Amino acid sequence: EVWNPSGRYRVISTKPMPGTRWIKLLTDQDCRVEICTEKKTILSVEDILALIGTKCDGVIGQLTEDWGDVLFSALKRAGGTAFSNMAVGYNNVNMDAANKNGIAVGNTPGVLTETTAELAASLSLAAARRIVEADQFMRAGLYDGWLPHLFVGNLLKGQTVGVIGAGRIGSAYARMMIEGFKMNLIYYDLYQATRLEKFVTAYGQFLKANGEQPVTWKRAATMEDVLREADVVSISLHPILDKTTYHLINKERLAIMKKEAVLVNCSRGPVVHEVDLVEHLRANPMFRVGLDVFEDEPYMKPGLAEMKNAVVVPHIASASKWTREGMATLAALNVLGKIKGYPIWHNPNQ
Ligand code: DGY
Repeated sequence: EVWNPSGRYRVISTKPMPGTRWIKLLTDQDCRVEICTEKKTILSVEDILALIGTKCDGVIGQLTEDWGDVLFSALKRAGGTAFSNMAVGYNNVNMDAANKNGIAVGNTPGVLTETTAELAASLSLAAARRIVEADQFMRAGLYDGWLPHLFVGNLLKGQTVGVIGAGRIGSAYARMMIEGFKMNLIYYDLYQATRLEKFVTAYGQFLKANGEQPVTWKRAATMEDVLREADVVSISLHPILDKTTYHLINKERLAIMKKEAVLVNCSRGPVVHEVDLVEHLRANPMFRVGLDVFEDEPYMKPGLAEMKNAVVVPHIASASKWTREGMATLAALNVLGKIKGYPIWHNPNQ
């Protein structure tokens, strides 16, 4: 699909993206926009090489693509200077290779904070209240009347929400769980989440003034403290996946969590050792998990699909219309900025 065919700068999007604002931004600024409409979900390096061709100024790519030296050097040979991931995460981008080839890299933070936090909150609730299991039960025609013990789950009110990584998304998620369900907070982060702490303190005072039990917060000295003490733990290490976070949640760490805890992962799949997780779910039927991401995405490790105590969704944390259009717009602005000689809008290196 080609927009503004006579445009001076050739910009490729490896996938159709939501909305049209991003296309207009580029075409208004003398760009010819080419959108790849190839049916297969994940494009290979060869597919993208063919798209880049011999003249290309910038590319908007996706987190499923392997952006390394082969693609960045091809982009450089084609006269390109700009690449943006349509994602806040950039673990699919080899930044050294981009720098070596003089390609500026952009990502799309900010616009997905609340949407991602809302999905983490949804998974927390779905897991704690066994919503998917109950839905499947209904659809299977198994409901034959109310029973006192039918799909009994966990009450969140007054329990402790644990956040590993209290950055933008982790803090937004924590606020939702605290304000929505009056949960206490324990978080682990290398940096102090001052605004989040202030929010919990103020909200606690408000509750107290209204004769309710105030919520409390604690910054944990270790990640293990969070795992040990929290009833619902969300991993919000967005967008970091590197050797420091790979298999962060493994057999040993799962073992210290409460037997009826809920674990949510909306960061990157390999942060959780999925084989260990399946074993843990099998051995602890009251332990529940909500997963948006998977170690071998798009696949699940054997056994996970059969676990009733797992809620699994296909990497949709940022999938609200507003956010996806915003991500597309930011990605276009990133590429456009560089082509027009401005600093790239959002550069993960900065
Ligand atoms: C990201 O942006 O990194 C998410 O994983 C997809 O929105």
